Amino acid sequence: MAHGTMSRRLVLRMTALVALVAIFLSTLTALAMRQILVSQLDTQLQATAARLVGQGAAQGRPPTGGGPGQAQGLLYYVQGSGGFVQVEDIRGSLGSEVSEPLEALTPSHQPSDVFLPRLGEYRVLTTQVGPMVVVTGLPMASITASMWGLIAAAAALTLLSILIAFVAARSVVERSLRPLARLATTATQVSALELGSGEVAVPVRVPDADADPRSEVGQVGIAFNHMLDHVEGALAARQRSETQVRQFVADASHELRNPLAAIRGYAELTRRERSDAPPTTAHALVRIEAESARMSSLVEDLLLLARLDSGPALAASATPLNQIVADAVSDARAAGPQHQWSLVMPADDVIAWGDRYRLHQVVANLLANARTHTPPGTHVETALTVTQDQAVITVSDDGPGIPPEMVDRIFERFTRGDASRARQHGGVQSTGLGLAIVAAVVAAHQGTVAVESAPGRTRFIVRVPPAPLP
Ligand SMILES: Nc1ncnc2c1ncn2[C@@H]1O[C@H](COP(=O)(O)OP(=O)(O)O)[C@@H](O)[C@H]1O
Ligand SMILES: [Mg+2]
Repeated sequence: MAHGTMSRRLVLRMTALVALVAIFLSTLTALAMRQILVSQLDTQLQATAARLVGQGAAQGRPPTGGGPGQAQGLLYYVQGSGGFVQVEDIRGSLGSEVSEPLEALTPSHQPSDVFLPRLGEYRVLTTQVGPMVVVTGLPMASITASMWGLIAAAAALTLLSILIAFVAARSVVERSLRPLARLATTATQVSALELGSGEVAVPVRVPDADADPRSEVGQVGIAFNHMLDHVEGALAARQRSETQVRQFVADASHELRNPLAAIRGYAELTRRERSDAPPTTAHALVRIEAESARMSSLVEDLLLLARLDSGPALAASATPLNQIVADAVSDARAAGPQHQWSLVMPADDVIAWGDRYRLHQVVANLLANARTHTPPGTHVETALTVTQDQAVITVSDDGPGIPPEMVDRIFERFTRGDASRARQHGGVQSTGLGLAIVAAVVAAHQGTVAVESAPGRTRFIVRVPPAPLP
């Protein structure tokens, strides 16, 4: 009964059906049996009545009963001129309560049932003999006793058949539903698989024994296996096309690096050598240099993201975060002398398990944002703390904050604020990829990054797992 309501319902219904049939058959048998016994009694009654009436006629007086050899409990009545007279009763004299129901009978050729107080059920035949009405009765006690015996036996058999039906139905239902339970197990295994991303396979299938086309459950098993094949194929196709796209982005970024470097180099060269160029040309050359620098950093970012996407290609080792954070803050201080930079960190080394260059890039990107997206004079505080199971780096500033509608997708690619504002604060290098790289690197370290922002207070919180103890 472990398989829930369906098997329980099936077993109960099958048992109920058997019970109904058994009860119906027992009732029919009992009725037929009674019919047979009553007709036997009737035959006996007819014979007895004929004999008694014959005896009475021979003796020229009303027939008597109760002679030796007569059936026990025989009732024998004759009607005289003054109404019914009880001539003889082999059990002794009976009162008027017995004679009254008998007096009410009318002569007929068919025996009938009558209930006599103190004596019980009787089968009586009422015959007209000349002026007399003779009632002959035989007790039904033996029939009643047989009927009770029969009913008891039938009830016992009915109960037994219900019990057998229950046990049999249970084992049959359980046996036929067992493949369904195995199917459910397979489905549960599939649902536990990580199919979201990456190279995935669906190694689970319904076993051949449960995929037999001749049974209904087997057909479900076959359909289920087909579905799994299909899902596996679709996932593989998705993975192939994702890989292709990533490879394309990586290749394209890589290929763009060299021509960009050349453009930058030639622009710089021309600007230096042609100091007599007209101001518009000089301006154009400066712009070419700046934009190609921006494009180079965009291409570098894209390349890095494409590599991070295609799997964590981290050169992980035990990395002291104190040094990384201190270096990044000192670089930021040099790049943004107009901001106020401060650093809080414990005296002891905080060691994380990770890629030192990538982690440096995370802190550098956050500090670059705090520099380029806030006005001069903004105070930027970098803090390094360590908890039981995490190293935490926070970068907080008291700048204008991130617009609320942007906060939710700030870590998505190409999300950036108002470009003019960024540029106004000297953020020429805005690509909208800086925080996407932060998120990807931190995720590759099995860490998390979060942001809280309100005007006057913006804080990025990076958590990475610490290095395992040696
Ligand atoms: N400290 C900050 N204060 C205000 N805005 C910020 C801050 N850091 C990031 N932002 C906003 O988030 C956007 C996305 O940042 P990022 O992904 O680094 O791209 P980018 O710096 O190239 O614009 C930025 O354009 C800016 O609008
Ligand atoms: Mg940035």
